[in-house]
Amino acid sequence: MFQYFRPHVRPVRGLLSAGLLASVMSAVMQWIAPWPLKYIFDSVISHKPLPSWMSGLPTSANSLLWFMVAVMAVVAGLLALSDYFSTRFVATAGQRVIFAIRGQLFRHIEAQGTGFHQRRRVGDLLARLGGDVQAIQSAVVTALPTLVRNVLTLVGMIAIMFVVDWRFSLLALVLVPVLGFASRYYLNKIKSIQRRARQADGEASSVAQEVLTSMTVVQAFGAEDVEAKRYEEATGRGLEENRLAIVAQSQFTPLVTLAMTMSTVVVIYFGVRSINSGQLSAGDLLVFMAYLRGMFSPIRQLSKLAGVVGRAHAAADRVIEILNTHEEVFVAPDAAHLHRTRGVLTFRNVSFGYDEDTTVLFGVDLEIPAGTRQALVGLTGSGKSTLLRMIPRFLDPTSGVVTLDGANIAQANLTDLRRQIAYVPQEPYLFRATVWENILYGREGGERATAIDVARRAGLHEVIESFPQGYDTMIGERGLALSGGQRQCVSITRAMVRQAPVLLLDEPTVGLDAELESLIMAALEIAADGPTTIIVSHQLAGLRWVDQIAVLSEGRILETGSHAELVANRSVFWSLSELQSAHLHERDVDESVSL
Ligand SMILES: Nc1ncnc2c1ncn2[C@@H]1O[C@H](COP(=O)(O)OP(=O)(O)OP(=O)(O)O)[C@@H](O)[C@H]1O
Ligand SMILES: [Mg+2]
Repeated sequence: MFQYFRPHVRPVRGLLSAGLLASVMSAVMQWIAPWPLKYIFDSVISHKPLPSWMSGLPTSANSLLWFMVAVMAVVAGLLALSDYFSTRFVATAGQRVIFAIRGQLFRHIEAQGTGFHQRRRVGDLLARLGGDVQAIQSAVVTALPTLVRNVLTLVGMIAIMFVVDWRFSLLALVLVPVLGFASRYYLNKIKSIQRRARQADGEASSVAQEVLTSMTVVQAFGAEDVEAKRYEEATGRGLEENRLAIVAQSQFTPLVTLAMTMSTVVVIYFGVRSINSGQLSAGDLLVFMAYLRGMFSPIRQLSKLAGVVGRAHAAADRVIEILNTHEEVFVAPDAAHLHRTRGVLTFRNVSFGYDEDTTVLFGVDLEIPAGTRQALVGLTGSGKSTLLRMIPRFLDPTSGVVTLDGANIAQANLTDLRRQIAYVPQEPYLFRATVWENILYGREGGERATAIDVARRAGLHEVIESFPQGYDTMIGERGLALSGGQRQCVSITRAMVRQAPVLLLDEPTVGLDAELESLIMAALEIAADGPTTIIVSHQLAGLRWVDQIAVLSEGRILETGSHAELVANRSVFWSLSELQSAHLHERDVDESVSL
């Protein structure tokens, strides 16, 4: 665990050292605290002479009393002050470390590849970033300062007790191993309970996330009750586990108190007998008892932390589990930097399967010269999107290579590679921000004038201007405030503004009405003028402007050629196309409806 903390501890070293210094100070004050009382008892009340090293002190009972009381007050003041600083510094340092770890966790999640994000549930990741980090944080804030201070106090107290009277110390400490075993037992118990509680929390968060992002479907299918039960079941499990943790905690603290009281009773019995037989002064016993109490107090406080610490431990395991997962896109250590490429793309004998048993692409060969327009057509599930996702390396081929300007993209710097690509996914994702911010996303100091230029050229400027506040329209979460077509317009403009040498379009017009579709097709035709463009589409009729069409079937390229060639050869594509128009004529609708 500490290997993850270490790099983040360095920046707060100063704060932590100050906190530790204050903690040592606090411990020293605790060690000193009982002594004035001993001298009040022995020298002020019982008039015993002071030890020789204190010979400079006033000898009259009254002045000595004043002096000792003053010492007690000063010690109490210093104790309060050092407690304040130690809590403040140690807790602040801890909080900063946790803050850094949270950032590290977020970056780590961002860096993971498609496989990771497909398998992991968003809600569970959110629970780790939120609840788990929070659990560690509250332990660090409440437990760490207490832990540091109390352990120091404890060690010192035990040492001094041995100096004062080692026999009584042994007597008092006989129960310490028992306490040790009990702490171990309860800590482990609470940790495993909390592990299940944190899991349930992740589950609840996943359910909530799923339901909240698909509320329309849930409501349309009347599944509110089912989902509420699913949510309650997960939160209920968390509640039950937390109840068990509380039960364990409430057994542990009284057990510790009981054990400590027992040893006090034994010490009092033997202590009073020693005083009566003249072996010990009342002041000695008093000091010893004060130390005993002083030692028990940290132990009791530490025992109270078992719940918080157990919970944080379970939470830290969950955070570390993610930090230990490495499913980043593999980038060779000597990856070459890419400057702006020309956009020559080739697939050489590319095969791919999402898992070992099923292959989705079989030895695909495809050459796309710079600046040309390539279409991918084929039936549902034939592997078009899969092929497209290999270019930004969301997926890597199982065998074969994809090259850009002749260089294997797997050996290029990933950021550079992705900078060469503008991608319009099938479901345009927009952020909760203005149209401006969405269009200029990922561009620092993006140029508004260029954006308007681009939109105007593509014929999308008017569409965007027609939004309620034009470019300043605030788009709701997941783009919900816009229609599907409007969202697509923003998404295409965003891709065009990137002015990348490669443009990838995954079914950009699916589900749009005829008017918007022809508008967007026209926009795409303009967008594709310049970059190397790959468009996945079912709109065969709309593909007359592309240079080359590849027909994919069950993961293989059946044929390639221009629109005219495929039609002339009466190819598969042609039959698909014919079939489509036959349908269309029958139904007497516009020719461009999806397959
Ligand atoms: N994330 C995934 N995990 C596992 N299998 C997948 C995944 N995505 C796609 N597949 C499978 O890979 C095959 C090809 O899918 P792909 O999405 O590339 O098809 P497509 O040609 O784009 O289809 P469509 O026209 O419907 O978009 C399909 O059989 C699909 O079930
Ligand atoms: Mg697809």
